[in-house]
Amino acid sequence: MTENQQTVPIDSLPPGTLAACGDYVVGNIGGAYFALDRWCRHRKGDLAEGSIDAQGCLVCPLHGARYDVNTGQAVEGPRVPGKGLAKLMMNRRPLERKAVEIRDGALFVR
Ligand code: FES
Repeated sequence: MTENQQTVPIDSLPPGTLAACGDYVVGNIGGAYFALDRWCRHRKGDLAEGSIDAQGCLVCPLHGARYDVNTGQAVEGPRVPGKGLAKLMMNRRPLERKAVEIRDGALFVR
């Protein structure tokens, strides 16, 4: 194991849930796992405290911005005035997506 690896026990991440993993949010959508930057590009909401909606998007708990978990792009801006501009600004630097690996009962963020 390298020094910067981050892990979450896989049994703590059932389908439809999120967890914090250092500076990443990890999630499980129907058995497909993902890892993205943990901090919302709008006002640094903790995405590990967010949710996964019916469309499989990661939803920020603070103002409801929605992210595509496959690209890290905001598909909807925050529910505040000027959300179109906010979305444009957020997508200048999408959430970084990291590779994940399941091994020995744990999810590793690479
Ligand atoms: S902090 Fe995430 S939408 Fe505002």
